[in-house]
Amino acid sequence: MHIQYNKDLTKLNTFGLAASAAFFAEARSVRALSEIITSIEWNNIPKFILGGGSNVLLLNNIDQLVIHLLIKGIEKIREDDDYVWLHAGGGEVWHDLVMYCVAHGYAGIENLSLIPGTVGAAPMQNIGAYGVEIKEVVETVEALFLATGELKVFTNKECNFGYRESVFKHSLKGKYVITGVTFRLNKVPQFKVSYGDIKSTLNEMGITSYSIKSISDAVIRIRQSKLPDPAEIGNAGSFFKNPEIPADQYEKLKTYFPDMPGYHTGPGLVKVPAGWLIEQANWKGYREGAVGVHDRQALVLVHYGGGTGAQIKLLSEKIQASVEAKFGIKLMAEVNFV
Ligand code: EPU
Repeated sequence: MHIQYNKDLTKLNTFGLAASAAFFAEARSVRALSEIITSIEWNNIPKFILGGGSNVLLLNNIDQLVIHLLIKGIEKIREDDDYVWLHAGGGEVWHDLVMYCVAHGYAGIENLSLIPGTVGAAPMQNIGAYGVEIKEVVETVEALFLATGELKVFTNKECNFGYRESVFKHSLKGKYVITGVTFRLNKVPQFKVSYGDIKSTLNEMGITSYSIKSISDAVIRIRQSKLPDPAEIGNAGSFFKNPEIPADQYEKLKTYFPDMPGYHTGPGLVKVPAGWLIEQANWKGYREGAVGVHDRQALVLVHYGGGTGAQIKLLSEKIQASVEAKFGIKLMAEVNFV
Protein backbone atom coordinates (compact mmCIF):
# COMPACT_ATOMS: atom_id res chain seq x y z
CA MET A 1 0.00 0.00 0.00
CA HIS A 2 1.25 3.47 -0.87
CA ILE A 3 2.03 5.63 2.17
CA GLN A 4 1.98 9.41 2.00
CA TYR A 5 3.73 11.59 4.56
CA ASN A 6 2.42 14.84 6.12
CA LYS A 7 -0.76 14.57 4.09
CA ASP A 8 -3.02 17.63 4.16
CA LEU A 9 -6.51 16.68 5.41
CA THR A 10 -8.28 19.99 4.70
CA LYS A 11 -10.41 18.52 1.90
CA LEU A 12 -11.02 15.28 3.80
CA ASN A 13 -12.99 16.77 6.71
CA THR A 14 -16.28 18.58 6.11
CA PHE A 15 -15.38 21.35 8.58
CA GLY A 16 -12.57 22.14 6.09
CA LEU A 17 -10.03 22.48 8.89
CA ALA A 18 -6.36 22.52 8.02
CA ALA A 19 -4.60 19.61 9.70
CA SER A 20 -2.22 16.97 8.46
CA ALA A 21 -1.66 13.27 8.94
CA ALA A 22 1.88 12.11 9.75
CA PHE A 23 1.21 8.99 7.66
CA PHE A 24 -1.66 8.44 5.26
CA ALA A 25 -2.89 5.53 3.16
CA GLU A 26 -5.97 4.73 1.12
CA ALA A 27 -7.64 1.33 1.56
CA ARG A 28 -9.71 0.25 -1.43
CA SER A 29 -10.35 -3.34 -0.36
CA VAL A 30 -10.64 -5.39 2.81
CA ARG A 31 -7.53 -7.27 1.73
CA ALA A 32 -5.46 -4.10 1.30
CA LEU A 33 -6.66 -2.88 4.69
CA SER A 34 -5.84 -6.17 6.36
CA GLU A 35 -2.39 -6.20 4.76
CA ILE A 36 -1.43 -2.83 6.12
CA ILE A 37 -2.83 -3.55 9.57
CA THR A 38 -0.87 -6.77 9.89
CA SER A 39 2.36 -5.62 8.21
CA ILE A 40 5.38 -5.65 10.48
CA GLU A 41 6.23 -2.10 9.51
CA TRP A 42 2.88 -0.58 10.56
CA ASN A 43 1.69 -3.07 13.12
CA ASN A 44 2.66 -1.02 16.15
CA ILE A 45 1.82 2.42 14.80
CA PRO A 46 -1.50 3.79 16.13
CA LYS A 47 -4.09 4.08 13.41
CA PHE A 48 -6.96 6.46 12.77
CA ILE A 49 -9.71 5.53 10.34
CA LEU A 50 -11.17 8.29 8.23
CA GLY A 51 -14.44 7.86 6.37
CA GLY A 52 -16.27 10.87 4.93
CA GLY A 53 -14.76 13.13 7.62
CA SER A 54 -18.23 14.51 8.31
CA ASN A 55 -18.35 13.96 12.04
CA VAL A 56 -14.87 14.95 13.21
CA LEU A 57 -13.42 18.11 14.65
CA LEU A 58 -9.68 18.13 13.96
CA LEU A 59 -7.96 19.92 16.84
CA ASN A 60 -4.39 19.03 15.93
CA ASN A 61 -2.31 17.34 13.28
CA ILE A 62 -2.77 13.58 13.53
CA ASP A 63 0.43 11.88 14.60
CA GLN A 64 -0.79 8.44 13.48
CA LEU A 65 -1.33 6.40 10.36
CA VAL A 66 -4.57 7.76 8.92
CA ILE A 67 -6.32 5.18 6.75
CA HIS A 68 -8.85 6.62 4.33
CA LEU A 69 -11.46 3.96 3.80
CA LEU A 70 -12.51 3.74 0.15
CA ILE A 71 -13.97 0.22 0.00
CA LYS A 72 -16.78 0.49 -2.57
CA GLY A 73 -19.52 -1.67 -3.99
CA ILE A 74 -23.25 -2.23 -3.54
CA GLU A 75 -24.64 -5.70 -4.19
CA LYS A 76 -27.85 -7.58 -3.68
CA ILE A 77 -27.24 -10.62 -1.50
CA ARG A 78 -30.69 -12.17 -1.42
CA GLU A 79 -34.38 -11.36 -1.43
CA ASP A 80 -37.75 -12.82 -0.55
CA ASP A 81 -41.28 -11.57 -1.16
CA ASP A 82 -41.01 -8.78 1.41
CA TYR A 83 -37.37 -7.84 1.77
CA VAL A 84 -34.12 -7.40 -0.07
CA TRP A 85 -30.71 -7.70 1.57
CA LEU A 86 -28.04 -5.34 0.24
CA HIS A 87 -24.37 -5.31 1.09
CA ALA A 88 -22.49 -2.03 0.77
CA GLY A 89 -18.78 -1.33 1.17
CA GLY A 90 -17.80 0.86 4.12
CA GLY A 91 -16.32 3.49 1.81
CA GLU A 92 -19.49 3.98 -0.24
CA VAL A 93 -20.92 7.48 0.07
CA TRP A 94 -24.06 7.16 2.22
CA HIS A 95 -26.23 9.32 -0.03
CA ASP A 96 -25.20 7.27 -3.10
CA LEU A 97 -26.56 4.17 -1.35
CA VAL A 98 -29.81 6.01 -0.58
CA MET A 99 -30.11 7.05 -4.24
CA TYR A 100 -29.44 3.45 -5.34
CA CYS A 101 -32.28 2.26 -3.08
CA VAL A 102 -34.63 4.99 -4.30
CA ALA A 103 -33.88 4.06 -7.93
CA HIS A 104 -34.47 0.34 -7.28
CA GLY A 105 -37.58 0.80 -5.15
CA TYR A 106 -36.02 -0.49 -1.93
CA ALA A 107 -37.59 1.27 1.04
CA GLY A 108 -36.31 2.05 4.50
CA ILE A 109 -33.61 4.69 4.18
CA GLU A 110 -35.31 7.35 2.04
CA ASN A 111 -35.77 9.54 5.17
CA LEU A 112 -31.98 9.44 5.57
CA SER A 113 -31.33 11.15 2.22
CA LEU A 114 -28.45 13.61 1.95
CA ILE A 115 -26.81 12.76 5.28
CA PRO A 116 -23.12 13.40 4.73
CA GLY A 117 -20.57 10.67 5.36
CA THR A 118 -19.96 7.07 4.39
CA VAL A 119 -21.71 3.73 4.85
CA GLY A 120 -18.97 2.59 7.24
CA ALA A 121 -19.41 5.61 9.49
CA ALA A 122 -23.20 5.35 9.57
CA PRO A 123 -23.53 2.55 12.18
CA MET A 124 -20.88 4.15 14.42
CA GLN A 125 -23.35 6.78 15.54
CA ASN A 126 -26.56 5.14 14.36
CA ILE A 127 -27.33 8.01 11.98
CA GLY A 128 -30.89 9.22 12.07
CA ALA A 129 -33.21 11.85 10.66
CA TYR A 130 -36.92 12.53 10.18
CA GLY A 131 -38.14 9.68 12.33
CA VAL A 132 -35.81 6.93 11.04
CA GLU A 133 -32.57 5.53 12.44
CA ILE A 134 -30.20 3.22 10.59
CA LYS A 135 -30.55 0.58 13.31
CA GLU A 136 -33.98 -0.25 11.89
CA VAL A 137 -32.46 -1.56 8.66
CA VAL A 138 -29.02 -2.87 9.66
CA GLU A 139 -28.82 -6.66 9.46
CA THR A 140 -25.09 -7.08 10.16
CA VAL A 141 -21.95 -4.97 10.34
CA GLU A 142 -18.58 -6.33 9.17
CA ALA A 143 -15.55 -4.92 10.89
CA LEU A 144 -11.84 -5.62 10.97
CA PHE A 145 -10.14 -5.96 14.34
CA LEU A 146 -7.24 -3.51 14.17
CA ALA A 147 -5.05 -5.55 16.53
CA THR A 148 -5.06 -8.68 14.37
CA GLY A 149 -6.66 -7.84 11.01
CA GLU A 150 -9.38 -10.45 11.63
CA LEU A 151 -12.84 -9.83 10.24
CA LYS A 152 -15.84 -10.07 12.58
CA VAL A 153 -19.52 -9.93 11.69
CA PHE A 154 -21.62 -8.09 14.28
CA THR A 155 -25.34 -8.76 14.49
CA ASN A 156 -27.63 -5.78 14.88
CA LYS A 157 -28.01 -6.63 18.57
CA GLU A 158 -24.25 -6.79 19.11
CA CYS A 159 -23.94 -3.25 17.75
CA ASN A 160 -25.85 -2.06 20.83
CA PHE A 161 -27.42 0.86 18.98
CA GLY A 162 -28.82 3.85 20.84
CA TYR A 163 -29.57 7.49 19.99
CA ARG A 164 -26.44 8.51 18.01
CA GLU A 165 -24.64 5.65 19.79
CA SER A 166 -23.24 2.17 19.19
CA VAL A 167 -20.73 -0.23 20.69
CA PHE A 168 -18.17 1.21 18.22
CA LYS A 169 -18.24 4.56 20.05
CA HIS A 170 -17.90 2.96 23.48
CA SER A 171 -16.29 -0.32 24.56
CA LEU A 172 -14.91 -0.97 21.06
CA LYS A 173 -13.88 2.62 20.33
CA GLY A 174 -10.83 2.74 18.04
CA LYS A 175 -10.59 -1.06 17.99
CA TYR A 176 -12.52 -1.95 14.82
CA VAL A 177 -12.82 -0.59 11.31
CA ILE A 178 -16.23 -1.03 9.72
CA THR A 179 -15.56 -2.42 6.24
CA GLY A 180 -19.11 -3.20 5.11
CA VAL A 181 -22.75 -3.23 6.16
CA THR A 182 -25.62 -5.52 5.18
CA PHE A 183 -29.03 -3.86 5.15
CA ARG A 184 -32.49 -5.40 5.08
CA LEU A 185 -34.77 -3.16 3.07
CA ASN A 186 -38.49 -3.32 2.40
CA LYS A 187 -39.99 -4.13 -0.94
CA VAL A 188 -43.31 -2.87 0.39
CA PRO A 189 -42.69 0.68 1.60
CA GLN A 190 -43.94 1.86 4.98
CA PHE A 191 -43.75 5.62 4.68
CA LYS A 192 -42.75 7.58 7.75
CA VAL A 193 -44.10 11.06 7.38
CA SER A 194 -45.02 11.83 10.97
CA TYR A 195 -42.06 14.18 11.43
CA GLY A 196 -43.74 17.59 11.01
CA ASP A 197 -41.49 19.05 8.34
CA ILE A 198 -41.97 16.13 5.95
CA LYS A 199 -45.75 16.41 5.74
CA SER A 200 -45.70 20.17 5.26
CA THR A 201 -42.95 19.95 2.65
CA LEU A 202 -44.83 17.25 0.70
CA ASN A 203 -47.90 19.51 0.80
CA GLU A 204 -45.83 22.45 -0.41
CA MET A 205 -44.55 20.28 -3.25
CA GLY A 206 -48.15 19.38 -4.13
CA ILE A 207 -47.53 15.66 -3.50
CA THR A 208 -50.49 13.71 -2.20
CA SER A 209 -49.60 10.13 -3.08
CA TYR A 210 -46.37 9.14 -1.42
CA SER A 211 -43.52 7.20 -2.99
CA ILE A 212 -39.98 6.34 -1.91
CA LYS A 213 -38.78 8.98 -4.35
CA SER A 214 -41.16 11.71 -3.19
CA ILE A 215 -40.22 11.22 0.47
CA SER A 216 -36.54 11.34 -0.47
CA ASP A 217 -37.13 14.50 -2.53
CA ALA A 218 -38.92 16.14 0.42
CA VAL A 219 -36.10 15.27 2.84
CA ILE A 220 -33.51 16.63 0.39
CA ARG A 221 -35.52 19.84 0.08
CA ILE A 222 -35.78 20.29 3.87
CA ARG A 223 -32.10 19.57 4.44
CA GLN A 224 -31.00 21.90 1.66
CA SER A 225 -33.14 24.70 3.08
CA LYS A 226 -31.86 24.38 6.66
CA LEU A 227 -28.44 22.82 6.65
CA PRO A 228 -25.34 24.41 5.14
CA ASP A 229 -23.66 22.52 2.29
CA PRO A 230 -20.15 21.57 3.49
CA ALA A 231 -18.87 22.31 -0.02
CA GLU A 232 -19.80 25.95 0.63
CA ILE A 233 -19.46 26.42 4.42
CA GLY A 234 -17.51 24.02 6.61
CA ASN A 235 -19.68 22.13 9.10
CA ALA A 236 -20.34 18.68 10.53
CA GLY A 237 -24.13 18.69 10.78
CA SER A 238 -25.51 18.74 14.31
CA PHE A 239 -22.67 19.62 16.64
CA PHE A 240 -24.49 18.55 19.81
CA LYS A 241 -26.88 15.74 20.64
CA ASN A 242 -30.42 16.61 21.63
CA PRO A 243 -30.36 16.23 25.43
CA GLU A 244 -32.71 13.88 27.24
CA ILE A 245 -33.82 15.20 30.60
CA PRO A 246 -36.04 13.83 33.41
CA ALA A 247 -39.72 14.60 32.78
CA ASP A 248 -40.08 16.44 36.10
CA GLN A 249 -37.20 18.76 35.19
CA TYR A 250 -38.89 19.36 31.84
CA GLU A 251 -42.23 20.21 33.52
CA LYS A 252 -40.48 22.63 35.86
CA LEU A 253 -38.67 24.32 32.96
CA LYS A 254 -41.99 24.61 31.08
CA THR A 255 -43.33 26.87 33.84
CA TYR A 256 -40.53 29.34 33.02
CA PHE A 257 -40.33 28.64 29.29
CA PRO A 258 -43.83 27.64 28.15
CA ASP A 259 -42.76 27.30 24.50
CA MET A 260 -39.99 24.79 25.19
CA PRO A 261 -40.50 21.84 22.80
CA GLY A 262 -40.01 18.30 24.12
CA TYR A 263 -40.68 14.74 22.98
CA HIS A 264 -41.25 11.85 25.38
CA THR A 265 -38.67 9.20 24.55
CA GLY A 266 -39.02 6.77 27.41
CA PRO A 267 -40.50 6.41 30.86
CA GLY A 268 -39.88 9.71 32.62
CA LEU A 269 -37.60 11.02 29.86
CA VAL A 270 -38.04 13.98 27.54
CA LYS A 271 -35.81 14.89 24.61
CA VAL A 272 -35.40 18.64 24.09
CA PRO A 273 -34.15 20.07 20.77
CA ALA A 274 -30.68 21.47 21.40
CA GLY A 275 -31.22 23.84 18.45
CA TRP A 276 -34.07 25.48 20.36
CA LEU A 277 -32.01 25.84 23.55
CA ILE A 278 -29.08 27.37 21.62
CA GLU A 279 -31.36 29.75 19.75
CA GLN A 280 -33.04 30.86 23.01
CA ALA A 281 -29.59 31.51 24.45
CA ASN A 282 -29.13 33.96 21.53
CA TRP A 283 -26.47 32.13 19.57
CA LYS A 284 -28.27 31.61 16.28
CA GLY A 285 -26.38 33.37 13.47
CA TYR A 286 -23.59 34.41 15.88
CA ARG A 287 -20.18 34.82 14.26
CA GLU A 288 -16.78 35.16 15.85
CA GLY A 289 -14.14 35.60 13.15
CA ALA A 290 -13.79 32.39 11.17
CA VAL A 291 -16.33 30.38 13.15
CA GLY A 292 -19.98 30.70 14.10
CA VAL A 293 -23.46 29.29 14.55
CA HIS A 294 -25.52 28.64 11.42
CA ASP A 295 -28.29 31.21 10.92
CA ARG A 296 -30.95 28.66 9.88
CA GLN A 297 -30.21 25.81 12.32
CA ALA A 298 -28.58 26.72 15.63
CA LEU A 299 -27.42 23.15 16.24
CA VAL A 300 -24.88 23.46 13.44
CA LEU A 301 -21.54 25.16 14.08
CA VAL A 302 -19.85 26.53 10.98
CA HIS A 303 -16.33 27.28 9.79
CA TYR A 304 -16.08 30.09 7.23
CA GLY A 305 -12.46 29.29 6.40
CA GLY A 306 -9.07 30.13 7.86
CA GLY A 307 -10.06 29.13 11.41
CA THR A 308 -8.98 26.31 13.68
CA GLY A 309 -10.56 23.37 15.43
CA ALA A 310 -9.63 25.00 18.74
CA GLN A 311 -11.74 28.06 17.86
CA ILE A 312 -14.75 25.85 17.15
CA LYS A 313 -14.17 23.94 20.38
CA LEU A 314 -13.97 27.19 22.34
CA LEU A 315 -17.21 28.44 20.76
CA SER A 316 -18.89 25.11 21.58
CA GLU A 317 -17.79 25.46 25.22
CA LYS A 318 -19.21 28.98 25.44
CA ILE A 319 -22.51 27.70 24.04
CA GLN A 320 -22.53 24.80 26.52
CA ALA A 321 -21.87 27.17 29.43
CA SER A 322 -24.58 29.63 28.45
CA VAL A 323 -27.21 26.94 27.81
CA GLU A 324 -26.35 25.36 31.15
CA ALA A 325 -26.59 28.73 32.92
CA LYS A 326 -29.99 29.49 31.36
CA PHE A 327 -31.65 26.07 31.46
CA GLY A 328 -29.54 23.87 33.74
CA ILE A 329 -29.06 21.45 30.81
CA LYS A 330 -25.62 20.23 29.77
CA LEU A 331 -25.22 19.77 26.02
CA MET A 332 -22.99 16.93 24.88
CA ALA A 333 -21.05 17.10 21.60
CA GLU A 334 -22.16 14.74 18.85
CA VAL A 335 -19.03 15.21 16.73
CA ASN A 336 -15.80 13.43 17.68
CA PHE A 337 -12.89 15.61 18.78
CA VAL A 338 -9.61 14.34 17.32
N1 EPU B 1 -35.11 24.45 16.66
C1 EPU B 1 -35.08 25.80 16.97
N2 EPU B 1 -34.08 26.56 16.48
C2 EPU B 1 -33.10 26.06 15.68
C3 EPU B 1 -33.12 24.69 15.37
C4 EPU B 1 -34.14 23.90 15.86
O1 EPU B 1 -35.93 26.29 17.69
O2 EPU B 1 -32.23 26.84 15.28
C5 EPU B 1 -36.18 23.60 17.22
C6 EPU B 1 -37.49 23.70 16.50
O3 EPU B 1 -38.48 23.70 17.49
C7 EPU B 1 -37.60 22.39 15.74
C8 EPU B 1 -36.82 21.45 16.61
O4 EPU B 1 -35.79 22.26 17.19
O5 EPU B 1 -38.92 22.01 15.63
C9 EPU B 1 -36.19 20.31 15.86
O6 EPU B 1 -35.36 20.84 14.83
P1 EPU B 1 -34.97 19.97 13.54
O7 EPU B 1 -36.16 19.33 12.98
O8 EPU B 1 -34.15 20.83 12.63
O9 EPU B 1 -34.11 18.79 14.13
P2 EPU B 1 -32.99 18.70 15.26
O10 EPU B 1 -33.56 18.03 16.45
O11 EPU B 1 -32.38 20.05 15.45
C10 EPU B 1 -32.19 16.31 14.55
C11 EPU B 1 -30.91 15.63 14.16
C12 EPU B 1 -30.53 16.00 12.74
C13 EPU B 1 -31.65 15.57 11.81
C14 EPU B 1 -32.94 16.28 12.25
C15 EPU B 1 -34.14 15.84 11.47
C16 EPU B 1 -29.69 15.34 16.24
C17 EPU B 1 -28.51 15.78 17.06
N3 EPU B 1 -29.85 16.00 15.08
O12 EPU B 1 -31.93 17.71 14.56
O13 EPU B 1 -29.36 15.24 12.40
O14 EPU B 1 -31.36 15.91 10.48
O15 EPU B 1 -33.21 15.96 13.66
O16 EPU B 1 -34.53 14.57 11.87
O17 EPU B 1 -30.41 14.45 16.64
C18 EPU B 1 -27.00 15.33 12.39
O18 EPU B 1 -27.03 14.46 13.24
O19 EPU B 1 -25.90 15.80 11.96
C19 EPU B 1 -28.25 15.89 11.91
C20 EPU B 1 -28.29 16.92 11.05
